[in-house]
Amino acid sequence: MSPTELAAVLEHARRRTETLLDPLPDEQLTRQVSTLQSPLVWDLAHIGYFEELWLLRNGNVNGNGLDDLYDSFAHGRAERGTLPILSPDDARAYVSEVRRKVLERLPELAGDDFLVGMVAQHELQHVETMTQTLALAGLADSGLPRVTARGDVLVPGGQFTLGSDDRWAYDNERPAHVVDLPPFRIDRALATNAEYAAFVEAEGAAASLRAGREDEPVEHISFHEAEAYASWAGKRLPTEPEWEKAVKSVGKELEHAQGAVWQWTSTFFGGYPRFRAYPYKEYSEVFFGDEYRVLRGGSWATDPLVARPTFRNWDLPQRRQIFAGIRCASDV
Ligand code: AVJ
Ligand code: FE
Repeated sequence: MSPTELAAVLEHARRRTETLLDPLPDEQLTRQVSTLQSPLVWDLAHIGYFEELWLLRNGNVNGNGLDDLYDSFAHGRAERGTLPILSPDDARAYVSEVRRKVLERLPELAGDDFLVGMVAQHELQHVETMTQTLALAGLADSGLPRVTARGDVLVPGGQFTLGSDDRWAYDNERPAHVVDLPPFRIDRALATNAEYAAFVEAEGAAASLRAGREDEPVEHISFHEAEAYASWAGKRLPTEPEWEKAVKSVGKELEHAQGAVWQWTSTFFGGYPRFRAYPYKEYSEVFFGDEYRVLRGGSWATDPLVARPTFRNWDLPQRRQIFAGIRCASDV
């Protein structure tokens, strides 16, 4: 891509950050809303720190004092409100200064589209994380569409290509490889609030849900809840390869495959065959194993640059702060 095109991608991400944060007073930016989330001003400076690290310093820490504060592995989210982090004014000045230098260097960086795309996608992922924080503070309006589809679709057995080798694909999406699956069925619709309420009523499950319209997709659902709902409905969650195969083969028949809520799969987050961490192990590899489950699709808060059919999201099975819901599958 040309430097101008890369600049447009970076600036698109920055507009979304500003649209979200500019209306907020400093008290909202510095507040630790939940132990699950960072103060918004931490996310903001971390966005700039990540951009400086990968586009100005080639991945090398330089001891400018920010490495410890804004490395997400140095301190957990719950304690970030107590760290000597940058004030809102200083954070805004820092991210603008980093961006100014990056735009100047873009002609040199244009050979490495992936790193520039990664930095833009990283910012957009934090925009969604910050939207979760605002939702927990009661300050975000969700943009959920209505559910109208009924029934399910048969996905015939056979081979398909899982993953991607595209320019913007993260290490965890690579390499694209052929997978053979038995036939399965997948629901055309996401589970609605009305359907989930029927499950809660029947099973006496905990309903700590934000009130939503009956015909909107249920959201803020944990993996455990999604799994319990699916089995109550006589179905199951799709596996991760099933979800991707469905979208790649019968995607047009699936209502809101993307842009409504993330959809839990039954698959643990792991590396595809011949996975190689790039450019750093902490993006994906350190989360591989039997703790995190994969979510697919993307929510109303996910930017289209991130919400591609091969994009893999993950979280702990008890977590509900993400904009996650349910699409069921079943055996043939
Ligand atoms: C892909 C959403 C799980 O927030 O931990 C942000 C994205 N990685 N900064 C996360 C991410 C580094 C990641 N998720
Ligand atoms: Fe990050």
